[in-house]
Amino acid sequence: MNSNYDLAWLRYGGASVERSAAIQLFEGYLSNIVAAGEGSSPLFRTAVQELTEGLAKLTGKQPAVEPNAAADRFVALGTIGGAGNPLLNDSVEGAEAARLGEEGYIIRKAAREGKDYILIAGGSDKGLLYGVFHFLRLLQTAGQSPDGLNLVEAPKYQLRMVNQWDNMDGSIERGYAGQSIFYQDSKIVSDLTRVREYARLLASVGINGIAINNVNVHEVETKLITPELLPDVARVADVFREYGIRLYLSVNFAAPIELGGTSTADPLEPAVQEWWKQRTADIYRYVADFGGFLVKADSENRPGPFTYGRDHADGANMLAEALEPYGGLVLWRCFVYDCHQDWRDRKTDRARAAYDHFKPLDGRFKDNVILQIKNGPMDFQVREPVSPLFGAMKQTNQMLEFQITQEYTGQQRHVCYLIPQWKEVLEFDTLCEGEGSKVKDIVAGQVHPYKHSGITAVSSIGDDYNWTGHYLAQSNLYGYGRLLWNPELSAEEIAEEWTSMTFGVNQDVASTILDILMESWPTYESYTSPLGVGWMVVPHYHYGPDVDGYEYSKWGTYHFADRDGIGVDRTLATGTGYSHQYVGANAALYDSLESCPDELLLFFHHVPYTYVLKSGKTVIQHIYDTHFAGVEQVEKWIARWDALESKLDPQRFAHVKERLLEQLESAKHWRDVINTYFYRKSGIKDQHNRVIY
Ligand code: GCU
Repeated sequence: MNSNYDLAWLRYGGASVERSAAIQLFEGYLSNIVAAGEGSSPLFRTAVQELTEGLAKLTGKQPAVEPNAAADRFVALGTIGGAGNPLLNDSVEGAEAARLGEEGYIIRKAAREGKDYILIAGGSDKGLLYGVFHFLRLLQTAGQSPDGLNLVEAPKYQLRMVNQWDNMDGSIERGYAGQSIFYQDSKIVSDLTRVREYARLLASVGINGIAINNVNVHEVETKLITPELLPDVARVADVFREYGIRLYLSVNFAAPIELGGTSTADPLEPAVQEWWKQRTADIYRYVADFGGFLVKADSENRPGPFTYGRDHADGANMLAEALEPYGGLVLWRCFVYDCHQDWRDRKTDRARAAYDHFKPLDGRFKDNVILQIKNGPMDFQVREPVSPLFGAMKQTNQMLEFQITQEYTGQQRHVCYLIPQWKEVLEFDTLCEGEGSKVKDIVAGQVHPYKHSGITAVSSIGDDYNWTGHYLAQSNLYGYGRLLWNPELSAEEIAEEWTSMTFGVNQDVASTILDILMESWPTYESYTSPLGVGWMVVPHYHYGPDVDGYEYSKWGTYHFADRDGIGVDRTLATGTGYSHQYVGANAALYDSLESCPDELLLFFHHVPYTYVLKSGKTVIQHIYDTHFAGVEQVEKWIARWDALESKLDPQRFAHVKERLLEQLESAKHWRDVINTYFYRKSGIKDQHNRVIY
């Protein structure tokens, strides 16, 4: 494993970052930290240490940490409900404190007995840690002065998680940033320094849960729940605990058979139930605050309850019962579909699968089960509609799954800032309880009163020096956490924060990176598969174009292009009826060719190439135009990046430049393959007579 790493957005100045104006404004407060009495928990110590180190780097001066207020100006840390800290209790009202919950915090300018200070008060030690990271961020971003400083923050989501798809041989499924930082040679690594750094990065943006192994649980990983490997799992849990992050494990539904205990994994079989209870008891002996199990069952050839004629409620509830006495959760994935479909079968529609499997089970799950639903009905494409399962189950806890790793969006060789995509998902109004039933509120348990809910995502990191393969892809990990804390933040605001923490406050650098990030998702979409139809990627690898790569395969991902037209008919009258998994006006919107938004047209409808879009262009001309424009956009970024050469450190300049050049080559390949394919299919010429082969 590579043990050198970049400090990402926690570099606090580093070599090339100019001092922000905010540091100067706060300067008088930053030499002294008052961390009073109550601070004995590991989390409290983490908070003090993070603030001390952060301030030392940002100001170039080691701050003094004292139990009492000796200086006239200082930063005071405390936990509400702590042992009567007067610096804190005088300036926080009871009602306010109640609003914070455990994870919230207050940052405000306060005064007492002639002292003038910045108060960071957490609802608990964990809230304090989040407050410290917020304060450090504030010092690096423009526009804040101590006067009038008064922030009261609490996270929108209860569960704010990442899922590692790491395998114990050190590989990472869909990983594009090197090898695992957790595993090597079928063991958990002995040196957890880099895992600790990862915990810091995650905690700094508010992540509070992590599943540390791939949802496809292979032979060795099946043993993570046994006393053979639990001592090592416990070491990892210890590291994350100091940053307020709970550890979860992905489990193999057939573990009772594979680990030799029983002859069946039938969830209704008492011996199987007992087996899981025993394993769960083992886990909690090693990891007292273990979060729970993440389960991929009956999905892409993984074992599950279907083998025994049971359904997913039977399977999930069996595990939930084992976890219940300890407060553990089952995160049960809904990515269940027929991956052995006959392409000749035009009735089966993979997009329908999650809803068809799970909706009828509403009300059958125990309350410590949460259904984990991918953002779209297919699989993290650059454009898909929002999964109609959100909000469709009133009595079943739900959480949303995003993919930070860029499996289908350029694999961290292309820049593709995903926050705008995720914001569209969160803002989608499902109409499940009438207008205003948005996904962002459903998965916060605010539309239906779910006991547990939240958001998770497949992580994007590996042991590459820069963590994420593409340096600019760090913004997706950063932004993911920020969005989960507060989905009202705009994609621009998040990009600006990340840029100034990571690259400093130079205006040219900041505005160039902001533009590239904000243009990147639409650009990636423009030169890949058109109008929501998805796929067209090289099978298995999912990088680069192969228009018919999946067309005659078993995976259920077709575009149905012929000489006359393209797209999947998912309407009620003539297609698969998927459109009617949506509620009321949404169903009508997608079902009708007239109202269906252009960007999803080919997801819902099969149309001739000459069909005229709302944009006024024909489908075929749209394909040509967007594919030429996408490449031109990447060329513009390269010119703008080149102009930053003297303003950036040589390493990061050269790295991003190299990635942009690769993106350009790949975008040209996409352009030429897609344009040529559709020109040959349709025989229709480009109106502008550009080169098509
Ligand atoms: C996709 C991905 C797989 C992954 C699966 C999942 O199909 O290509 O690698 O295992 O999603 O989410 O389970």
